[in-house]
Amino acid sequence: MKMLIAGNWKMNCSLEDAKLLIADIINGIHVREGLRDRCEFLVCPSFIYMPTIRHAVLNHNLLSFGAQDCSDQDNGAFTGDISATMLKESGCQYVIVGHSERRGYHAESNALVKAKAQKVVNNAMCAIICVGETEQQRSNGEALATVLKQLEECVPEGADSKNIVIAYEPVWAIGTGKVATTADIDEIHTAIRQKLKEMLADGANIRILYGGSVKPDNAGDILNIPDVNGALIGGASLQAQSFLGIAEAAQ
Ligand code: 13P
Repeated sequence: MKMLIAGNWKMNCSLEDAKLLIADIINGIHVREGLRDRCEFLVCPSFIYMPTIRHAVLNHNLLSFGAQDCSDQDNGAFTGDISATMLKESGCQYVIVGHSERRGYHAESNALVKAKAQKVVNNAMCAIICVGETEQQRSNGEALATVLKQLEECVPEGADSKNIVIAYEPVWAIGTGKVATTADIDEIHTAIRQKLKEMLADGANIRILYGGSVKPDNAGDILNIPDVNGALIGGASLQAQSFLGIAEAAQ
């Protein structure tokens, strides 16, 4: 299984910065021979930059292309929303759903995340389903239970290793510089793997990413954990050097 090295650009970059960033990433992959044998690269820019980034990405065929969210509806009077069908039509291969920033700032429930993931799967794309506990839940000893409940309630019908990826992102580790210990990541990823095997016929093959302050200097330890199959990267994905540095750390 190739590592998935995924950049979530969130609401960052000017259009000019986004063009420079994707050009740097493409050049960086070109010059780092062999990296693509081990890693699949994915960038998820903001919706508004997607046509520009898609153009750059399609020209080179070196990395995959995704969105940060989608609607749980097919079409209609949903001002400001973007459907999975539209994303598919725009060349998306992946869609992140249930990111903790969506769950937190937009009050997204597990049921809504599942409905969004279902639309992604129905439109022949891959849903990156985010799960993760808050600091409070961790200090209450509820980290594992929270993550497993999210998993049970967010995985859509017909899910398999081609159409879903799970991303474990402890909320307290996102953008804070705090990283879960390798023992904690190992514990949660092992439990996610076990649960996926119980839920799905090819649960053993579903990629499980870790996210939360992943940087080149901690990526080696994190990506070496057996059930860590890649990283979902925020801040460090905004510089080609650090984004690709994380991939280089994957053995
Ligand atoms: P940071 O890498 O900035 O902590 O963000 C992680 C994240 O939220 C990726 O989706």
